[in-house]
Amino acid sequence: MSTTPEQSKGPQDIMGAAAGHVRIFDTTLRDGEQCPGATMTFEEKIEVADCLDAMGVDIIEAGFPVASEGDFEAVSAIAKRVKNATVAGLARAINADIDRAGDAVRHAQRGRIHTFVSTSPIHLAHQMRKTEAEVLEIITATVARARNLVEDVEWSAMDATRTPIDYLCRCVEAAIKAGATTINLPDTVGYATPQEYGAMFAAVRARVPGADRVIFSTHCHNDLGLAVANSLSALAAGARQIECAVNGIGERAGNAALEEIVMAIKTRGDALPYDTRIDTTMLSRASRLVSAVTNFPVQYNKAIVGRNAFAHESGIHQDGILKYQQTYEIMTPESVGVGKSSLVMGKHSGRNAFRAKLKELGYELGENAFEDAFVRFKGLADRKKHVYDEDIEALVDEGIAHMHDRMKVVSLTVIAGNMGPQSATLTLDIDGVQHTVQSTGNGPVDATFNAIKLLVPHEVKLDLYQVHAVTEGTDAQAEVSVRLEEGGRMVTGRGADTDTMVASARAYVSALNKLMVKRQKTARVQQQAL
Ligand code: KIV
Ligand code: ZN
Repeated sequence: MSTTPEQSKGPQDIMGAAAGHVRIFDTTLRDGEQCPGATMTFEEKIEVADCLDAMGVDIIEAGFPVASEGDFEAVSAIAKRVKNATVAGLARAINADIDRAGDAVRHAQRGRIHTFVSTSPIHLAHQMRKTEAEVLEIITATVARARNLVEDVEWSAMDATRTPIDYLCRCVEAAIKAGATTINLPDTVGYATPQEYGAMFAAVRARVPGADRVIFSTHCHNDLGLAVANSLSALAAGARQIECAVNGIGERAGNAALEEIVMAIKTRGDALPYDTRIDTTMLSRASRLVSAVTNFPVQYNKAIVGRNAFAHESGIHQDGILKYQQTYEIMTPESVGVGKSSLVMGKHSGRNAFRAKLKELGYELGENAFEDAFVRFKGLADRKKHVYDEDIEALVDEGIAHMHDRMKVVSLTVIAGNMGPQSATLTLDIDGVQHTVQSTGNGPVDATFNAIKLLVPHEVKLDLYQVHAVTEGTDAQAEVSVRLEEGGRMVTGRGADTDTMVASARAYVSALNKLMVKRQKTARVQQQAL
């Protein structure tokens, strides 16, 4: 980890940090949450923010405060509790957005307003319907307004990579003159190549008066799979902030993956002479948490945090690794927080051992959440011979995800087999009242989902039903993901249990809970628009 800006000796950048210090700006809670199906609850956002702060992220983009009351509350709460990171709120170039973002980050130790406007001809003509001159005026007015509210203002040129360089330079100049302290040049549509992206930063930094007074930032989307390469290329051209998201989640194909950026810098110090403040041993935990709360599975072969990232299957590779680890590994699993699956405890383990294990896994739970997790751990240990770290993580993450759900699965009995019809008897707790129903279906999963539909009538499309085992063995917990779609709204739910049908019911009910939150959010936004 690098030193803090105040401690840095030797050449320093404009903000007093070491010249090679790269600020990690995490947008998991904003751009990440924006992607279809990744909606997080308030508690989930808090949990992710705490993890990012503990990991050493420099700036946490906590949300888009004007988007909804829920977004505003989450950004404000994160701003109040975060200890080290700067907390940013996003705002369009609209006064109401800027004021709302300023309000949301008001109590942060370090608060930032991140305001953006499109600059490319295609956006100006077809989306904004404004002239270049009008947009320049908007930049001056909105950045100045933000700067009146906070010291730290980031301005982004949306679709910078498809903006003619002369006009882009004029926009950046206007933003700097109006008081922006960070200038972000996003590859909004993931169109640039590394060489082009670096050249754009070099040109803007060379041509714009005052460019030496601000920090330049990257924000790359992964439509062509180049987001990380583009971000790193901009470092060589002087950028010192990278916007990225855990597991690379974000609009469409996602954003640059935080863990890939950080480990590339750490592993290839010879080619990339920079450093970050990230505690890389927390990368794996952050990835699992984000995957759990967004219900987005991490692909097995995902760099750094995928299940296979450190697995060696072929005989030749295994032989080499056993003789000398570096024959086939350029970084150690421990450096990203991947330990060997360890047998943790059984049904005789007590509260203290469980508390110590949670601490080791990076969880800090309040008393109620701890008690709830402990009871569920005991239940699991009764049903499962070996309880592994992964089991504990699945159990705790699920508890956090469902803490404030209005509907909960109380019990489920399923009759399966080939002598049909398959049936399910289900009890749900809905707003504190228990309801029981029986249903049949074309298989046990269908019967279970039909029972849910009887208790909570709704019309949705089941977009995805996916099961995977948390650990090995026939008594392993099944982790089920369910994605539902209703009128363009997409939500995903996840459930874990040693019984696949119970996990399925929990996942479906969890998705329904998220759908209810999303319906309210949409209704509020529509009301605001009237
Ligand atoms: O992709 C983009 O341009 C953005 C901006 C809001 C920074 O997400
Ligand atoms: Zn983006």
